[in-house]
Amino acid sequence: MILKILLPLLLICFCSIISASEGPHKRWYTEEQVAQGAPLFAKFCAECHGKQAASTPEWRKQDAEGYYPPPPLNGTAHTWHHQLPLLQRTIQEGGVKFGGKMPSFAEKLTAAETDAIIAWFQSLWSEKIYNTWSGQGISRVQQPAFMDKLPR
Ligand code: HEC
Repeated sequence: MILKILLPLLLICFCSIISASEGPHKRWYTEEQVAQGAPLFAKFCAECHGKQAASTPEWRKQDAEGYYPPPPLNGTAHTWHHQLPLLQRTIQEGGVKFGGKMPSFAEKLTAAETDAIIAWFQSLWSEKIYNTWSGQGISRVQQPAFMDKLPR
């Protein structure tokens, strides 16, 4: 009985690992989200992070007061180290709480709008960066929910 349920699940997992490691990786967002995110980014984020999210090449240099400049979000800085929930939180809560300078957007952007903005800047990421971000080709948002409960 258990096998009857487990076997197809394992098969699905296995197949998605195989397909994920080949060719362009399917991304978690839709084209609609990217299109929705573009004007929102231009309105709320571009003044600091740059129109194409490229910010400044000097993003690793602290200013005289010890603050870091807004990093590029286009895949060239370290944004790809952060999983989706952390990206969502950074945008919603801002960086002030953590000793940074980025304002909170909790009052200005809904969760869906925040996701659309992330979709837009991730659409600038290369396949390689995106796949590294999504963890050996398997995005956490695409993992079947039960995988979160498995011991690592
Ligand atoms: C007033 C300038 C400013 C605005 C506006 C701003 N940011 Fe930021 N952002 C920063 C700074 C500065 C940092 C570096 C951390 C800190 O100081 O809080 C940062 C950090 C981040 C990070 C973390 C990046 C990483 O690699 O760790 C993300 C993601 C981010 N911003 C996204 C956004 C998005 C999306 C918007 C628009 C909704 C936005 N920011 C608007 C200044 C800004």
